Amino acid sequence: METRSAGLRIHFEVLGDGPPVLLLHGYPLSSHLWDDVVGHLSDAYRLIVPDLRGHGRSEAGDTASMEEMADDVLEVLAAADEDRPVVLVGMSMGGYVSLAFARKYPQRVRALVLVDSRTAADSDEAAVARHRTAERVLREGTGFVADEMVGKLFAPGAPEELKQRWRERMAATSPRGVMAALRGMAARPDSGALLRQLGVPVLVIVGEEDGITPVEESRAIAQASGGRLEIIPGAGHMAAAEKPDAVAAALRSFLDELGSQL
Ligand code: MLT
Repeated sequence: METRSAGLRIHFEVLGDGPPVLLLHGYPLSSHLWDDVVGHLSDAYRLIVPDLRGHGRSEAGDTASMEEMADDVLEVLAAADEDRPVVLVGMSMGGYVSLAFARKYPQRVRALVLVDSRTAADSDEAAVARHRTAERVLREGTGFVADEMVGKLFAPGAPEELKQRWRERMAATSPRGVMAALRGMAARPDSGALLRQLGVPVLVIVGEEDGITPVEESRAIAQASGGRLEIIPGAGHMAAAEKPDAVAAALRSFLDELGSQL
């Protein structure tokens, strides 16, 4: 399905029926991240799965702040005729978008799940590095980003075929979309206090071998927010693609526990 947000075409899928769950992918990925997770949940939940602007089948804009992407998500919910509070599940950059959505529209959030993500803002060095990468993307295109990311995203034991599939998908992401997302992530605020104040149930899922958002950082987020931590053995930053059954099981037990209150 498609909708428009701030003039941009935003693609999304809706699967299943039941309480609404929004699944947001990371950078520079796409909604395919959840391909092997959704089948474990769609018998009991209504899954809304967008491609964030500039990623997958959604159009890129000149900018992609986390707040703009949160507004895109609100448009997707409207296009899906969904006006109930949703469980937000955000992987990495999708987690940053979830936090921006929760900051802007707290009444629309039933619960929050961060998957291989973080609440902290970028350090000054990290933000500068993102701006440098954005400029290089402008000159060289997205291929080098895909090469660099594929080396960082997966656990050492991840299947070569899975890595190559994602390398191709990342390389196909538009330079404009990648640049805008990099600049948007560099500008995002710290959301630690927000998560503590939100007062909704929190689940933090992390791959045991995640080298981008490590287990210790996830443990601290779970502790600070009174949330639960699930560590996925043998997975890296791409736990949802590397170990979809385990990620789905963690999601399923959290969602089922929210149960009748949803
Ligand atoms: C992601 O997977 O979305 C990115 O690694 C997030 C980031 O670069 O901070």
